[in-house]
Amino acid sequence: MKVLFIGDVVGSPGRKTLKEYLPKLKQKYRPDVTIVNGENAAGGKGLTDKVYYEIRETGADIITLGNHAWDKKEIFDFIDKTDELVRPANFPEGTPGVGYVIKKVGSQKIAVINGQGRAFMPAIDCPFRTLENIVNEVKEKTPIIFVDFHAEATSEKQAMGWFLDGKASAVVGTHTHVQTADERILPGGTAFITDVGMTGPYDGILGVEKEAVIHKFLTSLPVRFEVTSGREQLSGVFITIDNKSGLAESIKRISINDDRPFFD
Ligand SMILES: [Fe+2]
Repeated sequence: MKVLFIGDVVGSPGRKTLKEYLPKLKQKYRPDVTIVNGENAAGGKGLTDKVYYEIRETGADIITLGNHAWDKKEIFDFIDKTDELVRPANFPEGTPGVGYVIKKVGSQKIAVINGQGRAFMPAIDCPFRTLENIVNEVKEKTPIIFVDFHAEATSEKQAMGWFLDGKASAVVGTHTHVQTADERILPGGTAFITDVGMTGPYDGILGVEKEAVIHKFLTSLPVRFEVTSGREQLSGVFITIDNKSGLAESIKRISINDDRPFFD
């Protein structure tokens, strides 16, 4: 199975960039399934139903979330009405939405799991134990298991990769918005990257107006972060997985911006 994953889409610049490049990427890589992290897609924080459907129409089969999942209150109105939206699985029991989905792709199935880290992030249930339990559960239904682990610390993301090596087909990190150059297949057969990077403004700081972030560092005063405008970038990974074993065959990093232009 060929999986295209696009990292954190930030605000309208992110959605615009997705619209521009996703059709081209699909033409180039011919993925069987496309997964997009959309937790920052509405105004830089959270997801509304309007933006959810916009991203689906752009070409995402499944949308994953993260710590900003609940920032737009509209999410509570539609999260339980869709089968293609996944929030971190390790939120406490009773949290709206689901932590994983199993989607039919041709004659195969893919399980897509979202998890959230706890290092420098709000205290929620253990992501390691939660994700391990889900992996064991979904293994009965499909060997193809994709994990979007949304976490702040590179160490926690790498720990999850090694923890699930040989158990999941792919573990990709999201949230920190800066793409890491460490994509590889771990010895057990799991495709891994510490962070896929973001899709949206290229000249801001993690997608935010740089002046505001610099002001905060200079003064330590609270500032309002706004999604910045200007040049844009797209970040993603393309992963191929053996249908029988569920082990990864390849992982390719995708980075499109003015310094690394897209080629067909
Ligand atoms: Fe995040």
